[in-house]
Amino acid sequence: YTAQIDASDLEKGTYPYYMLKEIDEQPAVMRNIVQKYQNEEGRLTVPEDLVTAMLAADRIHIVACGTSYHSGWVGKHYLEKFAQIPTEVHVASEFSYNPPLLTGNPFFVFLTQSGETADSRQVLVKVKEWGYPSLTITNVAGSTLSREADFTLLLHAGPEIAVASTKAYTAQIAVLAVLSDALGAKLGHDMGINMVRELGIVATAMEAVIDDKERIGELANIYLPNTRNAFYIGRGLDYYVSMEAALKLKEISYIQTEGFAAGELKHGTIALIEEGTPVLAIITQANVASHTRGNIEEVRSRGANTCVFAMEGLAHDNDQVILPAVHPALAPLLTVVPTQLMAYYATLARGYDVDKPRNLAKSVTVE
Ligand code: G6P
Repeated sequence: YTAQIDASDLEKGTYPYYMLKEIDEQPAVMRNIVQKYQNEEGRLTVPEDLVTAMLAADRIHIVACGTSYHSGWVGKHYLEKFAQIPTEVHVASEFSYNPPLLTGNPFFVFLTQSGETADSRQVLVKVKEWGYPSLTITNVAGSTLSREADFTLLLHAGPEIAVASTKAYTAQIAVLAVLSDALGAKLGHDMGINMVRELGIVATAMEAVIDDKERIGELANIYLPNTRNAFYIGRGLDYYVSMEAALKLKEISYIQTEGFAAGELKHGTIALIEEGTPVLAIITQANVASHTRGNIEEVRSRGANTCVFAMEGLAHDNDQVILPAVHPALAPLLTVVPTQLMAYYATLARGYDVDKPRNLAKSVTVE
């Protein structure tokens, strides 16, 4: 299988919107990433000098904005789990004026689809002044942040046109998984995950979800057409996806949506739950599944209209969306897909332009 992603992909073809096309491309992007990062022995690798530089760090700082910031949280999980390096995630515009206390050997990772975001670049300029090593993970070869960082890893996702980022999010997570796996392999950690195989399983599972998109469209039409607000909840990796799912929904449908750590909702925000408030829950992590179920009950008993996205093995029969099983560490790659589709269909139902949300630009090159 060879993924074909080239300049002709700038065309929408038969798709009504770029966003739908880009959601559909995600399985091919996963396979393309595996292909690009695989060596002759079939192992996933990144340049040796990058591995050396990162393993010399006592702390990794991920710096990003928007959707890229959200993939950074999943990246933190991978870098800590597979490479066992403490990792922090920062909103770029905050880091600029309020940097954290740094350790002796920090390493900086910039996540940026476009490679041109001014807020992120401003941090990179400072990091270079300070003399610390840096990596940019970007979709655009030769972009500003790619040229200015010491190292670059490309997303190989093909051009992303829709303002709402979809395939760049999953591509960033996949490349962060590849990177973390390569670091772990160098350290001799056997994390019990065959990343090539598991990313292939993710691609197939994504296809199954995308093939069933009409079902997600129906759910979007049940839960979201007339609401003013909504919540996504989850724990751990499911919380990180909840933040991205909420951003996707709010930025194109204009439904005020919050992504919340499921256990934290009761400490204040639950006051917003009224009769019919949509609460969409993500359940893919065995260690917290029953806890999230408890939180779903808390909001349901206060009138919430709950919709559960659960992974096979942890799902209940009456869950609204049951996702094919993938390796739990890679679950964010899969669970985000139905949430992207929810945002897409909710926006259509509400009559807005999916690809051109108000007040937003694809690339923000001013501070
Ligand atoms: C803009 C876009 C967002 C994007 C963010 C970061 O605000 O509207 O969708 O996530 O920039 O972009 P980057 O290219 O740095 O990933």
